Amino acid sequence: MRGITTFFNSTMEPATQLPLREIPGSYGIPFFGAIKDRRDYLYNYGGIDGFFKAKIAEHNSTVFRYNMFPGPFIASDSKCVVLLDAKSFPVLYETDKVDKERGLLGTFMPDLDFYGGYVPLAYQDTSNPFHNQFKAFFLNILGSRHHKFVPLFKTGISELFDSLESEIAAKKSADFNTLNRNITFDYIFRLAFDTNPTDTKLGSDGPGIIANWFNYQVAPIAPSLGIKYLPHFIEDLIHTFRLPFALVKSDYKKLTEVIYDVGKTHLDEAEKLGMKRDEAVHNLIMCLFFNGSTGFRVFYPIMFKWIGLAGESLHKRIADEVRSVVAESGDGTIALAALEKMSLVKSVVWEAFRIQPPVTNQCGRAKKDLIVQSHTDSFEIKKGGLIYGYQLFATNDEKIFGSFQEFVPDRFVGEEAQEKLLPYVLWSGGRETDMPMPENKQCPGKNLVLTMTRLIVAEFFLRYDTYTIEEGSEVTITSLKKA
Ligand code: HEM
Repeated sequence: MRGITTFFNSTMEPATQLPLREIPGSYGIPFFGAIKDRRDYLYNYGGIDGFFKAKIAEHNSTVFRYNMFPGPFIASDSKCVVLLDAKSFPVLYETDKVDKERGLLGTFMPDLDFYGGYVPLAYQDTSNPFHNQFKAFFLNILGSRHHKFVPLFKTGISELFDSLESEIAAKKSADFNTLNRNITFDYIFRLAFDTNPTDTKLGSDGPGIIANWFNYQVAPIAPSLGIKYLPHFIEDLIHTFRLPFALVKSDYKKLTEVIYDVGKTHLDEAEKLGMKRDEAVHNLIMCLFFNGSTGFRVFYPIMFKWIGLAGESLHKRIADEVRSVVAESGDGTIALAALEKMSLVKSVVWEAFRIQPPVTNQCGRAKKDLIVQSHTDSFEIKKGGLIYGYQLFATNDEKIFGSFQEFVPDRFVGEEAQEKLLPYVLWSGGRETDMPMPENKQCPGKNLVLTMTRLIVAEFFLRYDTYTIEEGSEVTITSLKKA
């Protein structure tokens, strides 16, 4: 079916005319087609990127049909339309067009016991009144703590840097991941509750409890289980069944008891607004530690890998920028206003988000019949149709970014570049040019994340001239050269 359609696309660019094309691809025989797609996706094309590249070539299209991972027995209906370019992908952010109810992890949703029996905010569509109410409440909590973002994070960062140095001195290399996981958990906890988690009955167990709680929930959809030489049939079993909540039940109970205690002010406020205290507790845990600290845990190693790989010449340029801005500001420290002036630091952070966005999936169902536009064609998706977007391909779109596989530190330096490219930086569940609001699904931590990420880069290069990492790792630091 080919025709011509005219409409405003999701970028609100002027209306263009592109041929209406039938969505290519097929779902195969029921059940077996989904198993085949899962195996192709995981094993037969050298990984997910290889699978999608091969399918784009086969269909000559960045929009096509296939059975979404993980398929049976986790999902009864995995027939989806996948969006793999920067132009079609953002339709997934349009709240009037796409229903995100229970869509956070695609067709898979962990057992509700992991959330005290409630469907938490991040799994709710904006048409759900609780979503907008709780998100406004959560945005207020973050807003009221704005003045603490920087001083609290600086404490965490200097603990992190001290630990990296002592690990390198003792063992010749430092595992950035675990140290980062611990400081970002402590930071989010302190920011939200004005309390050090180690002063509660969590002791120093908090980061480990969150890591287990998170990993057990998502195990069936973790594409790489990180276990070398695991036979495919065993890996397939893990993608087929949910892990029981019982494995983390007692730790999660301990965490909820602590949040009841340290979160009293927030919970009183939630109750005044008509929310259940219990529901607020489980939602706070989800927002702060599933969405929040886990985001930092995943992204900072990615970013330090890319900056590390870029080498000493980039490190020198960042250090020069940071130190000259700090020298101008007078007192030798980095404040919010100083961060704004660091155009290379800002660009490097955006480039790391672009080249490897830490959250790779977006998923929802069409709320009505939709026309979606790739760079070359228009496609009709019927009401109720499952839509899946692979964010990594949207932000690695050659037609928008040119040298998309290259880490280009200066890519976002200058107003012109930012105006042209920032709408296609999509790490936060929305465009970089959009703002998180109660009525949308964009990350309420977006501004916090950008500020803290610029700060950790700037503080790092105020203290160090350069560093090296172990090839291929995310990320083991093998040397640090102090300024
Ligand atoms: C590098 C760090 C982070 C990344 C990459 C990240 C990414 C994202 C993404 C992609 C979404 C949209 C999910 C979807 O609907 O598909 C999201 C939502 C969310 N994020 Fe973040 N996030 C980060 C940090 C944070 C922080 C620090 C907080 C809070 C302190 C936070 C709280 C949330 C919440 C509550 C939602 C759900 C919003 C809603 O459903 O309307 N995130 N985040």
